Amino acid sequence: MNANDRGRLQTAEAPFDNDKLLRRRRKVEHLQAVRALGDNPLSTTWLEWVTLIPNCVPEMSWSEVSLETELCGIRLQSPVIINAMTGGAEQAYDVNRRLALAAKRHGLAMAVGSETAALRDPDVRRTYEVVRETYPEGVLIGNVGMGSGPAAARFAVDLINAQLLQIHFNAAQELFMAEGDRDFRGALDALRAVADSVDVPVIAKEVGQGVAAMEAERFVEAGVGAIDVGGRGGTNFVAIEAWRRGLSLAEDWQQWGISTAAAVCEVVDAVAGRADVVASGGIRTGHDVAKAMALGASAVGIAGSLLRLLDHPDGDSALDSYLEELHWTLRALLVLTGSRNWEELRSRPLVISGPLRDWLTARGRTDFLTRRTVGS
Ligand SMILES: Cc1cc2nc3c(=O)[nH]c(=O)nc-3n(C[C@H](O)[C@H](O)[C@H](O)COP(=O)(O)O)c2cc1C
Repeated sequence: MNANDRGRLQTAEAPFDNDKLLRRRRKVEHLQAVRALGDNPLSTTWLEWVTLIPNCVPEMSWSEVSLETELCGIRLQSPVIINAMTGGAEQAYDVNRRLALAAKRHGLAMAVGSETAALRDPDVRRTYEVVRETYPEGVLIGNVGMGSGPAAARFAVDLINAQLLQIHFNAAQELFMAEGDRDFRGALDALRAVADSVDVPVIAKEVGQGVAAMEAERFVEAGVGAIDVGGRGGTNFVAIEAWRRGLSLAEDWQQWGISTAAAVCEVVDAVAGRADVVASGGIRTGHDVAKAMALGASAVGIAGSLLRLLDHPDGDSALDSYLEELHWTLRALLVLTGSRNWEELRSRPLVISGPLRDWLTARGRTDFLTRRTVGS
């Protein structure tokens, strides 16, 4: 959406008289809504339909386990990425600083929220720059919206000296946003132009409604290095936008989207070897992370739950305890499946059942189903 459109869409419900203030207010309301709403209560990730098979003869030592992974050729110490959340409002400065400190303490990659705000509003640039200042050695990921061109993309990379760039595809959110975009033409051409012009790998990303195999193919043809599936089961931006407008959301809208597990399976099956896959949307526990990695993800993104942890009275140490336990669980699950690393975990079969199995069968992904459940 261009600035003029956004200006036109401002109505009596928006007390501010310009685009800059409206955007800042939206950023704050997103933080408030995620705190108020929690995860989508009416749908899950379907990772509960994936079962890792224990190995009662692990024949390996805890000390041999490595959590390292590679995303677009970049080595990550942990598969966990703090996914795109914020920037662009004064309150976002401290949230980003505290998230960056946690990322630094635990060796995580971190994405910032959409940097479009900083492009148009120089006053808020520091709310993003603080992440690089706090975590100079970190793998950082820039973020802009679909339809952004090469200039905006380069700006987003340069602002935080990012090693990767996410382009978010969030059509459902835009439609539910009173001031949101209504015209999505040209987004794939813009993605292609960005991928051609920035010198870091590009990640196409959903924000909670999931990526299907066909669109994954189109993203790969446009030149992305990875796809973040942003599936259903965690933060639900349709609900967030409804909350901002004081609307109650119908149940079928709360269930709209492709579950995270289904999206990971079909996107991995569609693009494996041509692009990496990031699992996100409702990833909360070490078991979720391990299952997503076993299905073929190269990394996982976690967002809303980290923000809610920061709200605890002693939020920074709550976040530390959570991340420590998560990493301990990942090591334990690798040992208990007899896997020294993610590649070895992926070579072990697992069980896929229930609606996830039905989904993959209905989608013609039976080779994937057989390969992963019987072993390759
Ligand atoms: C407060 C908040 C703001 C977000 N802002 C962005 C954003 O600017 N750009 C983006 O790509 N995703 C954004 N997201 C989406 C997350 O990156 C992620 O895809 C989504 O929340 C699903 O993950 P979760 O269930 O772990 O929260 C935001 C999420 C939250 C919680």
